[in-house]
Amino acid sequence: MIKKGIILAGGLGTRMSPITKSVNKQLLPIYDKPMIFYPLSILMLAGIKEILIIVNKGQVSQFRKVLKNGEHLGIKIQYKEQSQPNGLPEAFVIGEKFINNQNVALILGDNFFYAQSLTKTLQNSVKLKTGAKVFLHPVKNPKLYGIATLNKKNKVIKLIEKPIKTKSNLAVTGLYFFDKNVVKFSKQLKPSKRKELEIVDLLNKYKKLNRLNAEFLGRGGAWLDAGSIDDYYDTTAFVSAIEKRQGFKIACLEEISFRKKWISKKELEKGIKFYGNCEYSKYLKLLLT
Ligand code: G1P
Repeated sequence: MIKKGIILAGGLGTRMSPITKSVNKQLLPIYDKPMIFYPLSILMLAGIKEILIIVNKGQVSQFRKVLKNGEHLGIKIQYKEQSQPNGLPEAFVIGEKFINNQNVALILGDNFFYAQSLTKTLQNSVKLKTGAKVFLHPVKNPKLYGIATLNKKNKVIKLIEKPIKTKSNLAVTGLYFFDKNVVKFSKQLKPSKRKELEIVDLLNKYKKLNRLNAEFLGRGGAWLDAGSIDDYYDTTAFVSAIEKRQGFKIACLEEISFRKKWISKKELEKGIKFYGNCEYSKYLKLLLT
């Protein structure tokens, strides 16, 4: 069972500059809560309670202000700084001590997932014993993502980062499950042409060993990557539309903890006090009734 998860919330947020010049992208609001709540909720729904959040230099205190050490959510959050964004697999080198030779999940801080039966899919994924697991989702512009080409048996035969030309439209989403070899493999990687360690190179190592598992997040679900201005506002519009219509909140961390019985009513009441008089608190109050 995978018990540990990393959220990579560093990066320069270049595509969203000048907004991101003074604030970490992952702390910007997606409708009614900080972006980081969404990937964190995914790890929590998977049942993962030990979490490492990797942020840019000097930004730990900003994240700590809202997420603290996770105790109020019945989880344990640690933070580490990344001095320079050198590519996604660096998360496993920075997180080596945290990983402690165990299997681990990684989610990118700007990735948003919403799908029927997602919790079930996640709970199945943490059962991974060996190898790596990724999720594929169709996209209109494959040039922007890591893209997987499959054979007729739906087996991944090729993975390319931001291909200039490709026939496949299946993006590798920013949620990954790895066995404990991930640290060793990440250390063996060499920077790509754009001078970064590439996640697809890491995945290719698992593919070569025939240990890469890919699952489809079908078109009935939504996967968004809130890293560019347009995608950012699309994600906000999506959350706003669903929440207003259903009256349920997406990625309400206290709700997840409370329903999982990781926190008591008393702790939930403390959370309400902490957030003060806002819609989020009003929603939490409903859970107490
Ligand atoms: C990264 C990965 C890419 C993946 C994407 C998902 O790209 O390199 O393989 O498809 O995340 O969000 P980036 O967003 O850093 O350009």
